[in-house]
Amino acid sequence: MTPLLSVKGLTIDIVQGKNIFSAVRDISFELGEGEILGIVGESGCGKSLTALSIPGLLPQAAEAGSGSIFFEGRDLLTLPEQELCRVRGNKISMVFQEPLLSLNPLLRIGRQIEEPLLLHGKKDRAGNREQVLDIMARLGLPDPPSLTRAYPHQLSGGMCQRVMIALAMICGPRLLITDEPTTALDATIQTQILELIKKINRERGTAILFISHDLSIIRRLCRRVLVMYAGKIVESGKTEDVFKRPLHEYTRGLIGSIPERKRKGSALANIPGKVPFIEEQLPGCPFAPRCAKAMERCREAFPEAAFFDNGRRVHCFMAGSFFKEARL
Ligand SMILES: Nc1ncnc2c1ncn2[C@@H]1O[C@H](COP(=O)(O)OP(=O)(O)OP(=O)(O)O)[C@@H](O)[C@H]1O
Ligand SMILES: [Mg+2]
Repeated sequence: MTPLLSVKGLTIDIVQGKNIFSAVRDISFELGEGEILGIVGESGCGKSLTALSIPGLLPQAAEAGSGSIFFEGRDLLTLPEQELCRVRGNKISMVFQEPLLSLNPLLRIGRQIEEPLLLHGKKDRAGNREQVLDIMARLGLPDPPSLTRAYPHQLSGGMCQRVMIALAMICGPRLLITDEPTTALDATIQTQILELIKKINRERGTAILFISHDLSIIRRLCRRVLVMYAGKIVESGKTEDVFKRPLHEYTRGLIGSIPERKRKGSALANIPGKVPFIEEQLPGCPFAPRCAKAMERCREAFPEAAFFDNGRRVHCFMAGSFFKEARL
């Protein structure tokens, strides 16, 4: 089956004066129709740039240096801006971390949820209003008619995020990209938003690219996961497999750092060191400087992919030994 989204050899460069640094380096992945795919990794690993490159929303300093992003048979990277506008907010939409920053403080909620319809040429205001009320009700927003008249500052963070999701869903996109959608929210609200995302996927068949630095959230939501480190995808596979048997030393460290109830209060098994700045990239595996298992050759070349069951893909020279070790 042809995937809905197919990213091949994507590199995203950051231009700083006369210098160019790659923040995302030669990544490839696919997202199936109706699938929920997670991207996880520490801060600065390139998750957001990857997400933003898909609907063509990269910040000014960044540009896709090479590769392709196929969606519905067309390479979004080569699509003229006018064509891309027809895709953005319509077939592909995005929800970000800070809902209050994404909403216009001066416009009523109803008008904002209607905006994508107007942008995509739907000028029948009465028909639009029906659709706005309908999506709000479907997404469990309370009392849609009065909520449409409210302004963003009158709503809680969780409610603003539901409004953002309604806005993202109004045109019935095939792909919804969410970048840390629950990070700014407290735990109970976080759970409600995750349930809402699951419901959208289940009932509408919308494919979801879900970005988070939080592995436990990824585990609750995603069927497959990509683990990113310093602009590279170092491991990918079915979430269940990755959690049960992580095969990259970085993923092993991330999973070891998840706070569990039984360990509450005790120190986290954190990975020492931090993600390198894009200016400090060295040859070889980018994780080598922090890796307890690093060997000489890890500093020389980025490991080729090793493949395991269920389409599992790992870029680590130790993957085979980790695999055997876990089976014993
Ligand atoms: N607008 C920008 N200008 C300059 N450098 C940038 C810009 N955006 C991103 N970068 C660089 O690209 C790297 C990857 O950024 P990105 O925002 O994709 O990381 P991330 O994985 O989403 O991190 P976080 O978890 O903090 O959101 C950053 O470390 C930063 O060095
Ligand atoms: Mg980010």
